[in-house]
Amino acid sequence: MSRRLFIAGNWKMHKGPRDADALAVELKRALVDHPSVDLAVAPPAISIPAVVARLQHTGIAVAGQDLHDQVSGAFTGAISGEMLAQAGATHVLVGHSERRALFGDTDQIVAAKLQAAFRAGLLPILCVGETLSERDAGQAEAVVARQLSTALSSLSIDQVLTLTIAYEPVWAIGTGRTASPAQAQEMHASIRGWLASRYPREVPATVRIQYGGSVKGSNAAGLLSQPDIDGALVGGAALTADSFQAIVAAAAQVGASSGH
Ligand code: 13P
Repeated sequence: MSRRLFIAGNWKMHKGPRDADALAVELKRALVDHPSVDLAVAPPAISIPAVVARLQHTGIAVAGQDLHDQVSGAFTGAISGEMLAQAGATHVLVGHSERRALFGDTDQIVAAKLQAAFRAGLLPILCVGETLSERDAGQAEAVVARQLSTALSSLSIDQVLTLTIAYEPVWAIGTGRTASPAQAQEMHASIRGWLASRYPREVPATVRIQYGGSVKGSNAAGLLSQPDIDGALVGGAALTADSFQAIVAAAAQVGASSGH
């Protein structure tokens, strides 16, 4: 079964509304040639309306970077999935390692946020991944399995089927130290195996698993041609149209020449 490649750009805390609009203008121009690849960008929440307006009818989806698990209430500074949806987002990142490490998102909070994303009608991209010390201790697969198991524990099969999983080893994020295609493929196969052992065959065959961590134009093709790598979640290289386009072009080429 072939899964369409899915490339998403996580802008993190970069690009306020004016700068985000300017990048969206360039992306619109740079990405029109790649209808075979699914695309999304995740601007800061405050820039979502500008980017949604600019990317209308382009097929490039807009995602939130995080959400609160409640619909509304006295949660100063927080944003709900319903608000992201009202602003025009269709997707949302959940459980990014920076949220886990810097903002205290536990596995349980990530699970609640995942439920909240579905409640709001958003398509979640669930991020998982081990730290360097966990990898060095031989715990990488166990850590990712634990993250998946808590996050997915109360989802229906239909919900799991619409999920995108992003494997982002923490040691590869923003460090320039990418996982090798073989290292990434090994973990992606393990994640797909984890899904296969718990759900009907349709689930591991359908769910897309993105790789994230220092992806750029020069290493994208090697990663994306692995059989279990179905896309990329891109940080730094998503901040200019040229560097993001180079990754999308690599994906389009891999997609055209493989089963993806
Ligand atoms: P970099 O591509 O900058 O390493 O960031 C990856 C990431 O965290 C995407 O969510």
